[in-house]
Amino acid sequence: MSILDDMIAMARETRERAYAPYSNFQVGACLRGASGKLYAGANVENAAYPQGQCAEASAIGAMIAAGERTIVEVVVIGGGDGLCTPCGGCRQRLNEFADAATPVHVCGPEGLRQTFTVGALLPGAFGPNNLDNA
Ligand code: THU
Repeated sequence: MSILDDMIAMARETRERAYAPYSNFQVGACLRGASGKLYAGANVENAAYPQGQCAEASAIGAMIAAGERTIVEVVVIGGGDGLCTPCGGCRQRLNEFADAATPVHVCGPEGLRQTFTVGALLPGAFGPNNLDNA
């Protein structure tokens, strides 16, 4: 088993616990921190629809709660036939803790579908470095 296989397994398991009764679209994410530790998250929807949270945001929360701040690899698993690429807001959230070359592996329950990078998903990103001269 490779590290990527471990990440996919963790995201898949976590996805099964997603709370998505409104969209019925369960998503799991797994982040690898610079320490090598893995952090998983699932989407958490809400009866007040805009209060729903994406799987990536949940995983970032787990990483920050553990005291880590650098993402070196990302796995996202969604259902359906398409690519479950991170939404625009989550591209920005990932960019905060990753760099342009950080891989984002977009998967289905069966495994890897396509690998992107944070930079490819969010070209011309506004990030922490933009505030250095503020
Ligand atoms: N969703 C995620 O959790 N991550 C993604 O990358 C795409 C979309 C969630 C949000 C919502 O709960 C459901 O999928 C349908 O949009």
